[in-house]
Amino acid sequence: MLCFQIFVLLQMYFSKPTLSQVSFIVNEGGMDFPAVTVCNFNPIKKSYVRELNASGDLTGATLEYLLQTNMDAMFVFSNLDRHNLKETHDEAETYFQNHTDFQIIKFLRTAGYDCGEMFLTCYFGGRRFDCCKYMKQKVTSLGKCWELDLQSLAPEWMRKQISPGSESGLQLIVDAQLEEELRGENGDANAIFSDIYENGFRYYIHPPGANAELSSEGISVSPSRTVYSAIKTVSHNLLNRRNWGNCSEKWPEHYNTHLYYSASACRALCIAQYFNDTCGCAPFTYNVDGQKKICAPYESITCMDDHMLRKLNGTDYLELPDCTECHMECQSTSYTSYNSYGDGFNRGSLDWLRKISNKSETHIKNNVAVINIFFLEMFYTSYSQVQATSLTEILSDIGGNMGMFLGMSVITITELSLFFSKIFWIMVSKRRRQYMYSKKKNEKEKEQQLDDAVKEFQERRSRRNSRENISSLSNYSNRIVPIEEFQKKFGYKNPNSAENLSSCSLDSVVSV
Ligand SMILES: *[C@@H]1O[C@H](CO)[C@@H](O)[C@H](O)[C@H]1NC(C)=O
Ligand SMILES: *[C@@H]1O[C@H](CO)[C@@H](O)[C@H](O)[C@H]1NC(C)=O
Ligand SMILES: *[C@@H]1O[C@H](CO)[C@@H](O)[C@H](O)[C@H]1NC(C)=O
Ligand SMILES: *[C@@H]1O[C@H](CO)[C@@H](O)[C@H](O)[C@H]1NC(C)=O
Ligand SMILES: *[C@@H]1O[C@H](CO)[C@@H](O)[C@H](O)[C@H]1NC(C)=O
Ligand SMILES: *[C@@H]1O[C@H](CO)[C@@H](O)[C@H](O)[C@H]1NC(C)=O
Repeated sequence: MLCFQIFVLLQMYFSKPTLSQVSFIVNEGGMDFPAVTVCNFNPIKKSYVRELNASGDLTGATLEYLLQTNMDAMFVFSNLDRHNLKETHDEAETYFQNHTDFQIIKFLRTAGYDCGEMFLTCYFGGRRFDCCKYMKQKVTSLGKCWELDLQSLAPEWMRKQISPGSESGLQLIVDAQLEEELRGENGDANAIFSDIYENGFRYYIHPPGANAELSSEGISVSPSRTVYSAIKTVSHNLLNRRNWGNCSEKWPEHYNTHLYYSASACRALCIAQYFNDTCGCAPFTYNVDGQKKICAPYESITCMDDHMLRKLNGTDYLELPDCTECHMECQSTSYTSYNSYGDGFNRGSLDWLRKISNKSETHIKNNVAVINIFFLEMFYTSYSQVQATSLTEILSDIGGNMGMFLGMSVITITELSLFFSKIFWIMVSKRRRQYMYSKKKNEKEKEQQLDDAVKEFQERRSRRNSRENISSLSNYSNRIVPIEEFQKKFGYKNPNSAENLSSCSLDSVVSV
């Protein structure tokens, strides 16, 4: 029973069990505000196209082709018309040759709206601040976006939200500038459809330093709307491989990047590396750290068609590496948001917006949106993976079982193990066996000798005792002992007689 019990306990320990615990962590000083990335759905300004087309040789098809560079690779793969793709690619190549200073990444960085054009004004906790002072430019699949990372750039008072509610959070008043949209009138290129249906903005609430698109879903808001995003922080702490978990904190061996580790970034870079290895370039979607050459849409598609397309049971599917080295990140923070929308502006706010922006009422009605982001509550939920048992616990369980079944202790265990190890030694080593055999023989002999010695000694002692007695008696026989002395020594005393001696003689008893 005990052995079975111990087996079960050890089996449980070596299966490395884990369990999850949920804690609610109250931040006394306020909640660290996440980073917010805001993108305009219109990736390119009409005025920029005019500037680019100063020489007049930029066709609408080329422009569309250029804008497909940063679209989602899967969308491009499944939607692009392969018929005239080669043609447009060649056209674009000619354009690049005639404009040697043209660079695709520079194009993506400059085609979109500037910070000053996109943001009318910003507030944090009811205090107005200059948005563009703290904004950084980011290129995403939506084109040029602006990231507001309060943790690293902003002054102290803007880093934490100190009380719950919408008026303590961040408010951005944004201008969509729809008149800068390509419309296809008076010589301009036609409007370009990608996979986006609405006007306005998409904003991402994400941990500072993380890639906006990879670490959050994004929330859309269209002009003339007010959106309230109440956010909740959820943090996940997993155990790494050393502590029975499965997550990793560091990039796998051959990854060489400055990004923070996250499973999604790892997967993107893994696929980018696969593309670079097979075709020498990587689609924008996967090239998240920008270290590889960006594939033109035609290059991406031919690469996928030639090297990755597999036919299985009559249906096509794209074979990408499964990136098993990309484990979950050990520490991750995500922001879930609860959004509510309001439609239209009231009279007072229209007047106020007109005053701060110096724009017409029609422009405001058609373009302006208000984004509110705030913490719903001043605590966050943390999910932690912990070890379900420990060596100490297992030892005390085993100890308890031993006590229950045998009354055994550590000393008994030591003795038992010593005993078994000696038996094992004897079984294994011949010399040890011989040694033990001779030792036993020796011991037996010694015992025998000891026995003999003791016997002899006892015998001798008993012999000596009798001799002494006899000799002391014979002393008397050899001397002439006066009778009085003898009587004093050996005679009975008679309390009635004068000499106190009995008149009875022992002569008849002891023959002298
Ligand atoms: C560039 O200019 C030419 C000539 O004015 C015009 O035909 C063409 O549509 C323009 N391209 C774009 C993308 O606007
Ligand atoms: C590019 O430049 C060459 C020579 O300078 C010219 O012949 C050609 O038409 C130009 N291509 C385009 C698309 O303008
Ligand atoms: C850890 O990952 C391996 C595969 O890499 C999987 O088989 C195993 O179940 C995972 N363990 C846990 C605790 O998630
Ligand atoms: C990508 O491929 C090109 C061409 O094969 C190569 O020169 C370059 O070193 C590769 N880049 C990376 C990061 O592997
Ligand atoms: C292909 O189809 C056959 C029969 O329809 C099916 O048994 C098989 O599992 C399919 N293979 C895969 C990889 O789905
Ligand atoms: C506001 O716009 C008007 C006309 O568009 C212009 O004259 C005026 O200088 C502008 N005011 C400011 C403060 O920009």
